[in-house]
Amino acid sequence: MKRVFSGVQPTGNIHLGNYLGALKQFVELQNDHECIYCIVDEHAITVPQDPKELRKHILDVAALYMAIGIDPKKSIIFVQSQVSGHAELGWILCCNSYTGELSRMTQFKAKSGGKESVGTGLLTYPVLMAADILLYDTDVVPVGNDQKQHIELTRDIAIRVNNKYGDTFVVPDGRFMKAGARIMALDDPEQKMSKSAENIHSRISLLDEDSKIKKSIMRATTDSDGEIRFDPENKPGVSNLLNIYSALTGKTVEEILAGQSWRGYGDLKKELVAVTQEALAPIKQNYNEIRESEELIRVLKDGAERANAIAEPVMKRVRDKFGLGI
Ligand code: TYM
Repeated sequence: MKRVFSGVQPTGNIHLGNYLGALKQFVELQNDHECIYCIVDEHAITVPQDPKELRKHILDVAALYMAIGIDPKKSIIFVQSQVSGHAELGWILCCNSYTGELSRMTQFKAKSGGKESVGTGLLTYPVLMAADILLYDTDVVPVGNDQKQHIELTRDIAIRVNNKYGDTFVVPDGRFMKAGARIMALDDPEQKMSKSAENIHSRISLLDEDSKIKKSIMRATTDSDGEIRFDPENKPGVSNLLNIYSALTGKTVEEILAGQSWRGYGDLKKELVAVTQEALAPIKQNYNEIRESEELIRVLKDGAERANAIAEPVMKRVRDKFGLGI
């Protein structure tokens, strides 16, 4: 069985982009892969976090993982900081990466743009991500399109180390969804949907109430020609709505448009509201039960132990290759 690893930052507001780009595939993969799903709290602190909020968000994301259908009997669910190999391997890989390649990452450029002094953690964020992946001899990494460059860097670092020290790491592949890989902001379809955008109507969070879902979709930015067709370049707003529809239902855009009698964007939006509310209802219901249950902590403790059991032999291999320790 191929091994899958992926992670989500515990920063609140997990949204439809996270779900359709990444989380939904996590569930699909667990039936025929060995899956490891992480809550990457060490990545979260690359920007300032309130400690109390961070602890809360870690459990929120763990509960969401289970609420969408990740089954802790099939998959490992754990918190990054509970397996020390992530930080240790992160450091070793930092010593095998270059500031040039890191400062070329689009996400780093976006977060550091215009600032005179930038946190080191923001620059080395993708190296820690490479460590997460390589620590488990991962074959497949399901992520959204925005992580493509980070996966490429992970592959580059793995190949570089293998060339220098002999076979050390498995070189992983990214896995990207067709429809959900890049969900755009509802208020500005030129930008990706993000957790941090100021306008709450730019995104739909997985736990949003039905009334909020309706409001955000009904006021989504479209265009003025009134024609419903999939054309991301010329009609990014409408295409984004169709994309969300497609990713939520599993239907292709052609299947969605065939046999529709929608007279305008309003009709499309109304139906998308219903589709979204229906898709998120069971997640919300499961979430509330799981978030309050004592099982959550047990799952995370057990997950950390199982993750560590896989990571430790890999770390031993790495230390031996590099000549670290005695
Ligand atoms: P995070 O928490 O920012 O995002 C979690 C996942 O959601 C995807 N995503 C999107 N997909 C489609 N459309 C969007 N608008 C959208 N916004 C976010 C992201 O691609 C991601 O898959 N760096 C990772 C966290 C990470 C990780 C790892 C992932 C740390 N270590 C190791 C995989 C393997 C991130 O972006 O998290």
